[in-house]
Amino acid sequence: MVRPMIPASFFVFLCAGPLPTRGYDFDVVVYGSTPAGIAAATAAGHLGMHVGVFEPLPMIGGMGAAGNLALHDGAPRTKLSGLARNFSLLNAAYYNVPSEVAQPESFVANASFYKMLNAAGVVEIKLACRLTGVKCRADGASIESINVICQKNPVSAKVFIDASYDGEIMTKTVDYTHGREATAVYNESLAGARIPTPSAVKVHALHDDGTIIKYVQNISGLARPGEADDALMAFQHRLCISGDEDRLPWKKPDGYDRNDFVLFERYIAANQGKFDGFGWPPQDMRDFGYPGPKKKYTLCCGISIAASDQPNLNRGWATASWEKKQQIIGEHTYFELGMFYFLANDPKVPVKVREEFNRYGLCADEFVEFSHIPPQLYIRESNRLVGDYVMTQNNIANPKVVPDSIAVANWWLDMHMTGKYAVPDGDGQFTVRLEGNFPHNKGTTPPPYEVPYRLMTPKVGTGINLLVPVCLSTSHVAFASTRIEAMFMSTGSAAGVAAQQLVDATAATVQDVNVTRVQEILTRRFQQDIHIAEPDRIVV
Ligand SMILES: *[C@@H]1O[C@H](CO)[C@@H](O)[C@H](O)[C@H]1NC(C)=O
Ligand SMILES: *[C@@H]1O[C@H](CO)[C@@H](O)[C@H](O)[C@H]1NC(C)=O
Ligand SMILES: *[C@@H]1O[C@H](CO)[C@@H](O)[C@H](O)[C@H]1NC(C)=O
Ligand SMILES: *[C@@H]1O[C@H](CO)[C@@H](O)[C@H](O)[C@H]1NC(C)=O
Ligand SMILES: *[C@@H]1O[C@H](CO)[C@@H](O)[C@H](O)[C@H]1NC(C)=O
Repeated sequence: MVRPMIPASFFVFLCAGPLPTRGYDFDVVVYGSTPAGIAAATAAGHLGMHVGVFEPLPMIGGMGAAGNLALHDGAPRTKLSGLARNFSLLNAAYYNVPSEVAQPESFVANASFYKMLNAAGVVEIKLACRLTGVKCRADGASIESINVICQKNPVSAKVFIDASYDGEIMTKTVDYTHGREATAVYNESLAGARIPTPSAVKVHALHDDGTIIKYVQNISGLARPGEADDALMAFQHRLCISGDEDRLPWKKPDGYDRNDFVLFERYIAANQGKFDGFGWPPQDMRDFGYPGPKKKYTLCCGISIAASDQPNLNRGWATASWEKKQQIIGEHTYFELGMFYFLANDPKVPVKVREEFNRYGLCADEFVEFSHIPPQLYIRESNRLVGDYVMTQNNIANPKVVPDSIAVANWWLDMHMTGKYAVPDGDGQFTVRLEGNFPHNKGTTPPPYEVPYRLMTPKVGTGINLLVPVCLSTSHVAFASTRIEAMFMSTGSAAGVAAQQLVDATAATVQDVNVTRVQEILTRRFQQDIHIAEPDRIVV
């Protein structure tokens, strides 16, 4: 892929008029092989575009394969359509079962994604190839090329689809934000810093010397309720956990110090010797379509002070350098492996609890090249686009019917914790409290809603050849609902379809794309639901 020498003056012409048909490495570059990226590349490939996929990690698929989540969320609760359904059908074919498999084993998800790309003629897929730079054209509004570490020359394309979790191209080129908006910004009752909520299990937050135990934060660092800050909802690895004989015993992580896990010791003591801290036992993959026979589980979360998604370790993630991100990932790995090692081995943990944890271990047959840890950390939230339209708590599902809808979303405002604080409880004691989760109630459960094309487009006059199907233009509050992989496959497909109009020069910018045409192709060619079901469409 040697980029031809083009005189600078050429670009001046280029930005004023339609994009030329020659002189590009690709029609479309998809950065980030997340489920959105796979769908974008697959859709674009089927429509005849020349597509290149660049993935920062050494494994394809984002949370869809490299993160051991697949389409667990959004299914089976939501009816899958479009390429998300095709993915689930390919998984079903692998297992030779009739019904969709939304969450297969990760090596199966990996194979299904490759099958989708291959069937679409997308063969230029570069792994371990992260972005190092973006070159804009003289107009400042369009992207000429990107630099990636696996490629000596810049990679040029007519359209760039930034499907990465961090919006790496987006943050270098257009308006974006991260963290929590203040309540006042979009008049959202759930915005900004929250009041930490008492835990049913009361755990003392200080050591004898008055210092705060590890994994708990000083409350003086928390903004006032409703104020903006840079907190992100907690991350974790959705570890593959096995209940079979071939499981790997919990391994002591390097530098292990049992005192780092005092939180768990105290939690069990305060909970009558029982451990139910983080969605334990872990989520059975057989509940999400995987037919077995292996006993495989995916580690999740828990709204508990002893949860496996740990807030604050991700502080600074959104703007961190690659090196800093590796350090943050390492801290999550240490926390998770240390926690399991502690629960399975520490003499202070009741024998019954230790026995329970020793019945499980990491999956021996998954992520073999990555020490059995999914290479993709679950980045539940990072940077977000700020387009001309921003979806918020108040305008999700309002209006119900969106003319430029390209996807249907169906998930609650599922905000994981953003902080775990030592809070004075009045009698001189400090107890551990969680902060940032939203309550799960009617107010945080919008009906299924339509997702406008505008959530993927930068402000008019900027990023005219950039589409952003993951870091959508939503508030922190709304992103808690839009951030679901099955939904991202729909926005990704729409990005791939929309790119065609720039490639064939029927649209000059992503903001000028004829969305009616995109909707037609999504529905007819890809069987993607773009509107909520009829009964829901009756506006009362
Ligand atoms: C998706 O699956 C449907 C149903 O099997 C099939 O008709 C369609 O061709 C598939 N689409 C793609 C793009 O593979
Ligand atoms: C993913 O699938 C590709 C293509 O089938 C294969 O070459 C690769 O080894 C697989 N990787 C993993 C981690 O399963
Ligand atoms: C703010 O939102 C509330 C609740 O949705 C609404 O009642 C109120 O009218 C809004 N205020 C403004 C200024 O938009
Ligand atoms: C929290 O930080 C404040 C300000 O730095 C400090 O005065 C206080 O002692 C800290 N609290 C605890 C419990 O460590
Ligand atoms: C947009 O596409 C639709 C469907 O293909 C077509 O009917 C309509 O004329 C187009 N609109 C414009 C402004 O080109």
